[in-house]
Amino acid sequence: MGVYAVTGAASGMGRAVADKLTAEGHRVIGVDIQETDIVADLATAEGRRSAIDAVLTAADGRLDGAVLAAGLGPAPDPARLPVIAAVNYLGTVDLLEGWRPALAASGSARVVAFGSNSATTVPAVPRRAIAAFLAGDTERAVRAVKIFGKQAGPFVYAASKIAVSRWVRRHAVRPEWAGEGIRLNVIAPGAILTPLLERQLESPVEAKAIKAFPVPTGGFGKPEHIADWVCMMLSPSAEFLCGSVLFVDGGTDAYFRPDDWPRAVPLHRIAGYLRKFRGFSATRRAE
Ligand code: NAI
Repeated sequence: MGVYAVTGAASGMGRAVADKLTAEGHRVIGVDIQETDIVADLATAEGRRSAIDAVLTAADGRLDGAVLAAGLGPAPDPARLPVIAAVNYLGTVDLLEGWRPALAASGSARVVAFGSNSATTVPAVPRRAIAAFLAGDTERAVRAVKIFGKQAGPFVYAASKIAVSRWVRRHAVRPEWAGEGIRLNVIAPGAILTPLLERQLESPVEAKAIKAFPVPTGGFGKPEHIADWVCMMLSPSAEFLCGSVLFVDGGTDAYFRPDDWPRAVPLHRIAGYLRKFRGFSATRRAE
């Protein structure tokens, strides 16, 4: 049986994952700002450092997997934007960087980060915000969405989830992750009935927008179902799953984006590979 770190373990989908892993006989080290094994505020650098260290100590330097589910939804209060940005992005990538040696020590660790279908269904997310996240500068990311004024919440949220997904895909394939036996993947839920969604539904304006959003299957998802998918992504069956983003969203992403993906790889991205065995040369202009 394995040892798993689960952030956001006190509520919603993180809690559902922690419960399922525990029921399967695994040991779970929960991390959350609320009552769990390790209480830490992932919005601050000190909180993230203490969460990293406390998990490494509790796990004795070896983790079979990690689930990064701590996160905050889009809040209308502009004062909350820096906290949303820090928890959603740095609360995921800083912890993964800090835990990487312990994940490598297991030889076959599996990681699931929580993205969102907001990453592909919110329009006009500023590229500058995504770039700022990926540079680790969450304050600059927040400044980049300020143009949306009181409506900036969904944009900082979507940018944080795009950046988490891209960070995972960039790192998943590298020798220090894939080569060390660590599988990094993303789950991208749609609207799942958790306390986070319930809080949004309390506001009549947000509730109207959420209920009007097209969900081909209808209804909301269940945290227990997401936990089942996450546990599959942590299982030995996920050995060949690397850098994938799994949408479990009732079909909204497919509804809005049927033809956007899959699409052919741009030539310049595989030019190095082609050149190796065919003397092939390609430039961006050749596309
Ligand atoms: P939730 O609100 O039920 O659980 C989130 C957990 O994160 C809570 O236990 C909370 O205490 C913890 N957390 C918040 N701020 C923290 C901080 N500063 N430090 C440490 N822990 C903190 O939310 P839910 O719905 O279970 O969300 C889990 C993940 O799924 C989040 O990353 C969320 O963005 C994402 N997600 C949620 C969707 C939904 O419809 N519920 C849809 C798509 C993605």
